Amino acid sequence: MNMHLTKSQIGLDGVPAAETVLSHVDGERGELVIAGERVGDLAGKASFESVTARLWNSAMGTSLTEADVRAALGAARVRAFARLPDLLPATRGLSIVDGFRAAVAGLRAESGLDHKAAIVGAFPVIAGALVQQANGNPPIAPDPNTSHAADTLRMLLGAKPEPREVAGLDAYFVTVCDHGMNASTFATRVVASTQADLFAAVTAGYCALTGPLHGGAPEPVLEMLDAIGTRERIKPWVDDALARGERLMGFGHRVYRVRDPRADVLKAAIERLAIDGADLPFASEVESYIRAALRAKNPNRPLETNVEFFTAILLDALAIPRQAFTPIFAVARAAGWTAHALEQRRTGRLIRPSSSYVGRMPAA
Ligand code: ACO
Repeated sequence: MNMHLTKSQIGLDGVPAAETVLSHVDGERGELVIAGERVGDLAGKASFESVTARLWNSAMGTSLTEADVRAALGAARVRAFARLPDLLPATRGLSIVDGFRAAVAGLRAESGLDHKAAIVGAFPVIAGALVQQANGNPPIAPDPNTSHAADTLRMLLGAKPEPREVAGLDAYFVTVCDHGMNASTFATRVVASTQADLFAAVTAGYCALTGPLHGGAPEPVLEMLDAIGTRERIKPWVDDALARGERLMGFGHRVYRVRDPRADVLKAAIERLAIDGADLPFASEVESYIRAALRAKNPNRPLETNVEFFTAILLDALAIPRQAFTPIFAVARAAGWTAHALEQRRTGRLIRPSSSYVGRMPAA
């Protein structure tokens, strides 16, 4: 008869499920390495296109350049825009997060198409079209000659972004493009391991991303900051929420036992860019109080700020509607998902774990 599993076993804590050359999360030291470089040495220094080239090259042993990826993504955005009339009907009446899922599920493999570029290129086109649709506007056509970050902002917001805004979104894309065996990457790899195509694999990845314990947290982070409202209300609001047993969004992590390094990278990006809309002092005060309150409540379980807290501040300052935060996360993470799906197909096996049956057995 099988035994009940421990909490750690149920969550697969610390269980390696793949060999990868794509990224490494060191939860004790608070370090994230993406294709051989620390995240802090990439964000704000290397473009999303160049980091995507690193990921794809690492997964496939190719030697794509930043320019190759920039051209491929520009062409893929144009192609995806032409397919919007087929993709958008399935999204009508849905929220932006759910509409994105429906449209991504409608993408399909076609011969002659570079599938990984088709996916990464389509994501901002779909996100932009859904934001425009929510405002009653037609989608804005992509510009294949600009960067992925610049074009994403243009299609979302309808105006040419300022260079510092583009730099802010590009730094965000690089910071969150890959992150070890997180839940959505695992989901992507499980589907890829069955030899299903890349489109099926990333659709699974996106579905896993949407939950608030993973990539759905930034919108609730802003709702929390709105609900707190003023400095005087920080302590009573946080104390009440914790007394009710609520989880505070943007804090805690399965792997990090110290501060998520991406939180500092994004905070630095917000400071560097001096984006007008960001109320960083208030957010920082909320952050300090929550960290102290979590330390007091769970002295044996380090609960630190994670990437989603400063994601919320940065994307909000860029005027991206909060309902689109999860799809924008997916725009960046699509680089990691496609690389992991390709790596899984090249080097992995069918992922098929077992379960511990604790139900009733038939009578002898
Ligand atoms: N607020 C309050 N308490 C928390 C929080 C939090 N954010 N996170 C964990 N805890 C508490 C748990 O309730 C638990 O308490 P208990 O032992 O009294 O039951 C204790 O800390 C230990 O938690 P675990 O179960 O070990 O945490 P787990 O590894 O399952 O969860 C997770 C990690 C899901 C990220 C969690 O910290 C959480 O829910 N955070 C809020 C949501 C969030 O920010 N998500 C984004 C994560 S980053 C990303 O995916 C991109």
